[in-house]
Amino acid sequence: MALRAVEHSQEAANGLKEKVLTLDSMNPCVRRVEYAVRGPIVQRALELEQELRQGVKKPFTEVIRANIGDAQAMGQIPITFPRQVLALCVHPDLLNSPDFPDDAKRRAERILQACGGHSLGAYSISAGVQMIREDVARYIERRDGGIPADPNNIFLSTGASDAIVTVLKLLVTGEGRTRTGVLIPTPQYPLYSAALAEFNAVQVDYYLDEERAWALDVAELRRALRQARDHCRPRALCVINPGNPTGQVQTRACIEDVIRFAFEERLFLLADEVYQDNVYAEGSQFHSFKKVLTEMGPPYAARQELASFHSISKGFMGECGFRGGYVEVVNMDAAVKQQMQKLRSVRLCPPTPGQVLLDVAVSPPAPSDPSFAQFQAQERRAVLAELAAKAKLTEQVFNEAPGIRCNPVQGAMYSFPRMELPPRAVQRAQELGLAPDMFFCLRLLEETGICVVPGSGFGQREGTYHFRMTILPPMEKLRPLLEKLSQFHAKFTCEYS
Ligand SMILES: Cc1ncc(COP(=O)(O)O)c(C=O)c1O
Repeated sequence: MALRAVEHSQEAANGLKEKVLTLDSMNPCVRRVEYAVRGPIVQRALELEQELRQGVKKPFTEVIRANIGDAQAMGQIPITFPRQVLALCVHPDLLNSPDFPDDAKRRAERILQACGGHSLGAYSISAGVQMIREDVARYIERRDGGIPADPNNIFLSTGASDAIVTVLKLLVTGEGRTRTGVLIPTPQYPLYSAALAEFNAVQVDYYLDEERAWALDVAELRRALRQARDHCRPRALCVINPGNPTGQVQTRACIEDVIRFAFEERLFLLADEVYQDNVYAEGSQFHSFKKVLTEMGPPYAARQELASFHSISKGFMGECGFRGGYVEVVNMDAAVKQQMQKLRSVRLCPPTPGQVLLDVAVSPPAPSDPSFAQFQAQERRAVLAELAAKAKLTEQVFNEAPGIRCNPVQGAMYSFPRMELPPRAVQRAQELGLAPDMFFCLRLLEETGICVVPGSGFGQREGTYHFRMTILPPMEKLRPLLEKLSQFHAKFTCEYS
């Protein structure tokens, strides 16, 4: 005790009474950051897994993580060809092995030739290996029916997240009423709200229309913009297409309306297109903002500023852990592009393995290549067909459940069903200091082991309740999972009615 008192007075004398970095003294913007996809519900899921391993008895035998869009974590087998190319790049001695097909070897040799010291262990230039940027440009041209893409407008990144954060960083400025406002969809992918909080920018919510399958309505954009102009300076508009968490695929007409709106209101467009390969619904088609913008012609094509993001984390490869992605900037001011280049260079370069996988994603085996059949027919098509079947099944099972209503999952990897919660459940949640859908999701996790994310983590209209569930669990687990969740909702409703 006496010793502690001496230490204490010495600390005080040295001015060391408190740590320099405390919750009170730290960057308040960081404290405001929230990221529901890995929030408290996931913490609890981890604890439950630990308890199961220790033999604690639970009403379930495994925790099912339907909270995050991570295909391989949910059991998807990696696609063979990209992994072969990557293995060869990482360990070039394998180029002598008879176990790898010739096209994978040729591909790896080509990539290694383009790397510093012919090694993946070297930093690449900050915008990414030049040859891979060129391959990305060719991919974009093919995707967009021949509309040219300039490799110098393409920056490879550490997943799409890194590129999104970079572009937001360029946009954020001002103080008080001149702070940058960024229009983001509600519900949204919480990277946006988190990054805007971190940068002390203003999040301007525009609501997607749930009654019209989460359609994006320009009248709603206009409302959000008008209100935001009272307290900030809106400078950018973000669209997520196909949508996360809402799974809608925008029509071409809608994209045209959004571009016209952005042009008239002088807003920089951010098109988050990481799910561009994940379109399932009949009649739905992915239209890139770049293509639509270019085809709209003057004055839009040559003037509207746009950044479009893509990633290796989604699509059919689901290689999230390798952290590959890119942004293509269109009509960006040349001097700003230089600043962006500078900002990227401070971080040296995106991981080279992620760049390799991106290269394969954008230039898959051609029909004449030995790996084509396995890649295209057995793997790529199979993964996408199964996702489409799971999207349909999810919508169907949820819509059979009383008190749950699910819009069609037209694309991406999630359903975002709306659920009714009885007033007594809402009241109980409030007593516990929880959002009502968080209360539901926590109880669901504790009683069934199913981990989904409450709608409040993505934003939703006041008084409505949702949860986001991925469509990624294996088919044989998905139906029982959907039924179990629906039954739990019925039981929960009964308990609080
Ligand atoms: C809409 C959206 N944008 C961006 C990302 C980030 O992906 P990445 O893993 O490429 O950083 C995600 C990830 O789930 C997403 O859903």
